[in-house]
Amino acid sequence: MNFSGQHVLSVNQFERDNLEYIFNIAEKMEPYAKRKIRTKVLDGAILGNLFFEPSTRTRVSFGCAFNLLGGEVRETTGMETSALAKGESLYDTARVISSYSDVIAMRHPQAGSVAEFAEGSRVPVINGGDGANEHPTQALLDLYTIQSELRAFEQKIDGMHIAMVGDLKNGRTVHSLSKLLAQYNNVHLSLISPTELAMPDYVIDTLENAGHKVTISDDMEHNLNADIVYQTRIQEERFENQDEANKYRGQFRLNSDIYTRFCKSNTVIMHPLPRDSRADANELDNDLNQNPNLAIFRQADNGILIRMALFAMTLGVADQVDKYQCPVPWYSAK
Ligand code: CP
Repeated sequence: MNFSGQHVLSVNQFERDNLEYIFNIAEKMEPYAKRKIRTKVLDGAILGNLFFEPSTRTRVSFGCAFNLLGGEVRETTGMETSALAKGESLYDTARVISSYSDVIAMRHPQAGSVAEFAEGSRVPVINGGDGANEHPTQALLDLYTIQSELRAFEQKIDGMHIAMVGDLKNGRTVHSLSKLLAQYNNVHLSLISPTELAMPDYVIDTLENAGHKVTISDDMEHNLNADIVYQTRIQEERFENQDEANKYRGQFRLNSDIYTRFCKSNTVIMHPLPRDSRADANELDNDLNQNPNLAIFRQADNGILIRMALFAMTLGVADQVDKYQCPVPWYSAK
């Protein structure tokens, strides 16, 4: 796949060799992300960062990743500050913003909206999450994190056991990650959720057609004996009303006691974040914060590397990043 000038809308675009290529480029971004050295390879380029739904990590890391490559960022946050609130179409918005930008990252609450927007865009569009549908850059950073965490235990993605826990119906990150895992071999997936919030059938079909073992359960404790536990939040913003979401809040909580009793000694804990730390939810307890196998912040850090790699690739400069190096004159503690 030649990434130059391409949209990144779905994980379905990627085959396994594409993933390995992206991860190689991401790894090379580490000295830049850690401020050991700078690059100006995207000096003069503009990212249109359009976030029509709340975000902390994805929005800020897209922006920082672009800045770290030397480019500038122009942001729109919230539907109400955009002309979409006046009835402008996604197509018209895309035609206009794509003439102001070299690449666009976008999040929107409706499934399929980012692909619709991309049809009107004259520059590459990267999906930062479209409703309950997909979150491809999160899936890439999740898979990159799984690979690097397992490497420390001399394990691989092929043959691993991952338990996905929580709202598997509405959680777009688990949909996208599962589809990427279909590119690997002999993965065991334990899908733990309330029956009403089960993983969609089409995702399970994809996994089973790839030859993976899929176990479905609403019992968290007895399915945590995995290499990776991927905890998720109840996606309350996708429910008809708060009362409906409240029925499931707090149903699956992972804390230090449960980890010690039911996980393996080296089970890696992941969560796409944000975790819901309110007392009635608390799906991933703060008492795990000092556990060395808690990978959630390393996972968020990897978002910078993956997004830098995607910008460099879609703008066709992945092989020129080092050529535009310059020193870091300020003190850096990273
Ligand atoms: N993981 C993730 O998408 O986080 P944000 O909603 O903060 O972007």
